[in-house]
Amino acid sequence: MNAMDEQSEERTRGMAGDKLAGRVALVTGGSRGIGAAICRSLASQGASVAAGYSGNRERAEQFLREFEEDSSSGGRATVHQGNVSRPEDCQRVVQEVLDAHGRLDILVNNAGITIDKMAMKMSVQDWNTVLAVNLSGSFYMAQPALQHMVERGTGRIIFVSSVIGETGNIGQANYAASKAGILGLTKTLAKEAAFILARAGKLTDDGVGITVNTVTPGFVATEMLESVPEKVLDKIRSQIPVGRLCRPEEIARVVHFLAADASAYITGQVWGVNGGMDM
Ligand code: CAA
Repeated sequence: MNAMDEQSEERTRGMAGDKLAGRVALVTGGSRGIGAAICRSLASQGASVAAGYSGNRERAEQFLREFEEDSSSGGRATVHQGNVSRPEDCQRVVQEVLDAHGRLDILVNNAGITIDKMAMKMSVQDWNTVLAVNLSGSFYMAQPALQHMVERGTGRIIFVSSVIGETGNIGQANYAASKAGILGLTKTLAKEAAFILARAGKLTDDGVGITVNTVTPGFVATEMLESVPEKVLDKIRSQIPVGRLCRPEEIARVVHFLAADASAYITGQVWGVNGGMDM
């Protein structure tokens, strides 16, 4: 990281605080990229974090080491292996987090993959694999988390969708459809959570409640962009009004804002962080 990046990371991460002190957050795909930035951001407000990862154990352990060395991290961290496209893994991971931390206040569904091909060349397997991880995985994670949150009467679910779910993109029929699906999932779960709390008499004027929201990042400088050919990336860059890629911390600060108790009146919403790409 160069000096300019460090400076902007400081600026976008914002002041450390205690807005999430005592809270426990589970972040899928939390050991790298946007997910790791979200973990650091939530921890900077005092939350303990549980980072989910699918295959790269070494990277998960590196994340833990870096987290422990970072003096601005308020809470503690754990890592949990699981494939979000398998419902049984999702249930186990949520249970592991409850066993390790005693509670789950914030679920950030961030795990996602791409298999980019023009639609006419996309195999059924390419389609199903991306839908299974990005969309079904979001549902499989949300279900056990919501169950626990409804019992407690409080919680935050934040999905990481994409601007591509709103605009579509050449080569991304599977990814765009999965990310668009998350928008419908968000609004439905937001309605159901409020409905169930109201029916149980747990919806109070000054309560934390259960909210469900989505963040739609634009093109973020992470490993995911490595598969995009340079000539295509140049084209994409030229279509971003603010003229640059997004930094992971710029997504993370919106997530930690939505996760705060004081964001109780924001639910079922889609928060674009895309440099103006959808204007
Ligand atoms: N936007 C604009 N033009 C695109 C494009 C895109 N997304 N994707 C491809 N093109 C253009 C190429 O520039 C090329 O144009 P020319 O013929 O003028 O050179 C043409 O389409 C054909 O492209 P390729 O030569 O690359 O064709 P291919 O069949 O080998 O590959 C592809 C097609 C798989 C779609 C490949 O171009 C590709 O990977 N595109 C990038 C897709 C992309 O944007 N992925 C985003 C990943 S990051 C992410 O998904 C996170 C997020 O939420 C934003």
